[in-house]
Amino acid sequence: MALEVIILAAGMGKRMHSSLPKVLHPVAAVPMLFHVINTANELNPDKIHLVLGHQSEQVKTALTKLDEALQAKLTISLQEQQLGTAHAVAQAVPNLGADSKVLVLYGDTPLTPKAELEHLIAALNDHDLSLLTSEPKSPFGYGRILKDAKGNFVAIVEEKDATEEQKAIREINTGMLATTSAILKTFLPQIGNNNAQGEYYLTDLSALLVQQGYKVAPVKSCPANVDKLEGVNNKAQLAFIERIYQQSKAYEYLMAGLTLADPQRFDVRGSLSFGQDCFIDTNVIIEGKVVLGNNVVIGTGCVLKDVTIGDGSIISPYTIMERSELKQRTTIGPFARLRPGNVLEDEVHVGNFVEVKNSNIGKGTKSGHLTYIGDSDIGEGTNIGAGTITCNYDGANKHRTVIGNDVFIGSDTQLVAPVTVEDGATVGAGTTVTRTVAAHSLIVTRAHPRSLPNYQRPTKHKK
Ligand code: UD1
Ligand code: CA
Repeated sequence: MALEVIILAAGMGKRMHSSLPKVLHPVAAVPMLFHVINTANELNPDKIHLVLGHQSEQVKTALTKLDEALQAKLTISLQEQQLGTAHAVAQAVPNLGADSKVLVLYGDTPLTPKAELEHLIAALNDHDLSLLTSEPKSPFGYGRILKDAKGNFVAIVEEKDATEEQKAIREINTGMLATTSAILKTFLPQIGNNNAQGEYYLTDLSALLVQQGYKVAPVKSCPANVDKLEGVNNKAQLAFIERIYQQSKAYEYLMAGLTLADPQRFDVRGSLSFGQDCFIDTNVIIEGKVVLGNNVVIGTGCVLKDVTIGDGSIISPYTIMERSELKQRTTIGPFARLRPGNVLEDEVHVGNFVEVKNSNIGKGTKSGHLTYIGDSDIGEGTNIGAGTITCNYDGANKHRTVIGNDVFIGSDTQLVAPVTVEDGATVGAGTTVTRTVAAHSLIVTRAHPRSLPNYQRPTKHKK
């Protein structure tokens, strides 16, 4: 039997108080809906049906960021008016095969573990419908699971329709369920909207089936997954789910041997891989794809996006880097900024208040302080003095600066690109370099100092 997944994502998310559709709010920098789509895809379904409605154009535009193979698996059904979760599923039903297993997921429950969904699907072997239940710390806001005296499932009652007695029930409906396309085609049209919200509730399907003698299985989640099954309806729940995601990532990395100074103060918004004996201090943010070799140290407050950092490198606090490759034993920061497009060879040093962009820096070259290196190719063993600036922009175009091996650039030098400083050359402090500096030569453009004795400073004019 084929497997098809329906993901409900048409709601407006009024409680988010935002112009962004609820399902596009990010968890770890990825829209909630993408998390759900990715988990669905891990189950290898034949099709994934998305039910979109509120701001569907914005959601569709966001979907173009998914990889193309995944996009090809998606079918979109529009729910023009959001009349409830049963009505939402009904919009996808015409696209379902005649004889499929169908898993229904909610776009606002982004961290649902795959294993829980596999249990739901497995329960279909001897049931007509299975629904995922859970016992969170507070059941407030969720549909409650009603059972008879024998403990058999009877119905789900929404918070807004529940009596005080029913509200005391701890077992809740996570919203996720598995059934068949045949059941959906037959029974969805029978669901009414006679309830507190005047909506067509998907939750009524289970009760309807029980009444007709079908077998419904409430499948309770593993206690360890309870937090991951919380839905997001407001910003407090979004922040909660973000923390749950981050805690589980931190735990995964700790178990794989990464040392984190404090797993509570660590954020990964992408992917991180690392070798042995790496240390990450507090409040570091990892974005995109970050790869660390062995024995890499990342200081507090660093932001690393799409970077590769080689063995033995030390990134001191408050360093920001993006799209750069650092080879082995580099030392960067504190307060350094690597903008996109750099390759730093072994033992390069980039110190405080140094900005580097689109540059290649050779082995052992050092730039310790207050410098801008942009669009440059620098050789090995070169020293760049404090306050050096590559003037790479002439107001219209960018030009490259080429600096050889064993060059000494004195402090407060301006290198007006395009310009070359050849191997072994020395540039005196305060020089403005506009032409090629020949190998092993010294260039100084300083005016000869004049000394005026007993100099009187200007005085303020009297009014
Ligand atoms: C729903 C369940 C509740 C469960 C809870 C779990 C119903 C009636 N209630 O309540 O039992 O405990 O989820 O989180 O199902 N949506 C549509 N079209 C609509 C309405 C909703 O696509 O017309 C989508 C929303 O975008 C959202 C999902 O369905 O992704 C759930 O809707 P929401 O309004 O958040 O339901 P809850 O009140 O949380
Ligand atoms: Ca919800």
